[in-house]
Amino acid sequence: MTFTICLPIALVLSIMSFTDSPSLSLRHRPRRLRRSPAIRQMVRETQISTNDLIYPMFVMEGENQKVEVASMPGCYRFSLDLLLREIADIYQLGIQAIALFPVVPESKKDESGTESYNPEGLVQRTVAAIKRDVPDIFVITDIALDPFTDHGHDGLLGEDGSILNDPTVEVLKKMAVSQAAAGADMVAPSDMMDGRIGAIREALDAAGYINVGILAYSAKYASAYYGPFRDALDSAPKSGDKKTYQMDPANSRESIKEVLLDIEEGADIVMVKPALPYLDIIRQVRDATDVPVAAYNVSGEYAMIKAAGEKGWINEKKVILETLTSIKRAGADLILTYFAKEVALMLK
Ligand code: PBG
Repeated sequence: MTFTICLPIALVLSIMSFTDSPSLSLRHRPRRLRRSPAIRQMVRETQISTNDLIYPMFVMEGENQKVEVASMPGCYRFSLDLLLREIADIYQLGIQAIALFPVVPESKKDESGTESYNPEGLVQRTVAAIKRDVPDIFVITDIALDPFTDHGHDGLLGEDGSILNDPTVEVLKKMAVSQAAAGADMVAPSDMMDGRIGAIREALDAAGYINVGILAYSAKYASAYYGPFRDALDSAPKSGDKKTYQMDPANSRESIKEVLLDIEEGADIVMVKPALPYLDIIRQVRDATDVPVAAYNVSGEYAMIKAAGEKGWINEKKVILETLTSIKRAGADLILTYFAKEVALMLK
């Protein structure tokens, strides 16, 4: 008896408490567009696609080698044989572009980075092999001397310890031409010497490589976020820092100047690096130019998420997607990221 009375009352009460009856008179209720997965997807402004991702990869000498970078869990230095297999796999996953970085043995490093333009060098052999095995993957090679110099700087060292600009650019030109000869689709100067984009463009054209593009690291900051990458390549500068060529993290106007100069000199794509601490710069560059903008989600950004994920302090997968979304939302068309493979798997 009590049940038959109480039940309807309880039902009425519960319906009342769940009815969002209007007490405010609002014309705009932005929450309408967040009510269900369908409407949220319909109005979503930014989508991450595997097409936007460029996968940085490390190649080392030897055979059958796959060595994890301690400060970059999930990232490896591969010998060429295993790198080729990995590239075939990631291409299957939909990743269409890689950025290649060499681990150069100490014995091949010298003062002026001559190994960088050896036609039989590690990068050159690797590019040729990739183009033979997985011809359709887009190969971007790095132009900078730091993996090749015994002092670890991106340029030639003057007698007073300063980094020489114009003599360095002469070496970069040789490096670019030798990478193009090996089959690189695009070269990516990451050194921050003045005038290198124009000089490299001319050198490539003079050698007949008019279709090899230039992805310019235009706004590259002197960042502490590169630490794990320097572990991976064993390329940390032996003395001093890179502040006379890489940009001061405190500056933003200068990034526009660098970007416009690089476009003027012939850059096809411009890049901001790092990404996450420089989202404002990505946005300003996007607004100031018409060329595609890339952003480099660098090794330190990767390492922080991996470390917190390993500790169980964050939901790693969700943080990865949110991070890449923020970089695209800021204005990047392309993202170089060590998460590329993981994200390609997530999006599959
Ligand atoms: C070197 C180069 C660096 C990175 C890419 N190319 C390091 C540096 O400038 O010292 C860093 C990439 C990363 O941290 O993921 N020219």
